Amino acid sequence: MRVLVHPDPDSLATAAARAVADALSVRTGPRVNVGLAGGSTPALTYQRLRSLDVDWSRVDLWLSDERWVPHDHADSNGRMATETLISQVGANFLRPRWSEYLTPADSAAFYEAELRRIMPDGVADVVLLGMGTDGHTASLFPGTEALTEEHRWYVDNEVPQLDTWRLTASIPMIQRARTVMVLTAGESKAEVLAEVLEGPDGTYPIQILRHAAGDVVWIVDDAAASQLTATPVERAGAQ
Ligand code: 6PG
Repeated sequence: MRVLVHPDPDSLATAAARAVADALSVRTGPRVNVGLAGGSTPALTYQRLRSLDVDWSRVDLWLSDERWVPHDHADSNGRMATETLISQVGANFLRPRWSEYLTPADSAAFYEAELRRIMPDGVADVVLLGMGTDGHTASLFPGTEALTEEHRWYVDNEVPQLDTWRLTASIPMIQRARTVMVLTAGESKAEVLAEVLEGPDGTYPIQILRHAAGDVVWIVDDAAASQLTATPVERAGAQ
């Protein structure tokens, strides 16, 4: 695990975009895939990614999680990713289906079938994640059913604390990935980040990354890292 600390969200986004582009370039083979994080933090990273030299024709983009809303809804992660990145680049985008006639469970199953076609071994090349102040990641929220899933790659998840349904990559799906990058910014995340990285295991969903098979890179800003005391970090620009 590496923790890369940047001065502010702007430099975090620039570095994260570069890290994603580099991770894509080192993957040989005809296709490479990236699971995109939702929420607000990644938007700037996706905008920066647009201008980097990536062969998007070989890239399959998918969503690490999605809200159970219509595709054009303001809360849709797929809409955010489309507006900030996908509409500008020629990548293939796999998006979970939404319909008032579809259940979240069926949509998750359909999506998993699509994911199986682009990565038959279930090993994603890159998974981007964020972290909530409750230590959730993707749509793996504390105390929710999805935390118990041991086999499926993508699942529906009822989130009572938000009174909503979500679709999310499962813990095994995330833990199998070759590279996981967690983008985290802001003072509001500082306390939970310190507990996640330095406190007892099994307290927060995102601590599943302690048991990830691949590379885990936290790309954070100074504010989010401000309460770290025992974690080795790499500061941007440090010699
Ligand atoms: C979502 C995300 C979620 C997000 C965190 C952090 O759909 O909301 O995937 O896991 O990454 O909640 O969100 P912010 O980046 O907005 O703080």
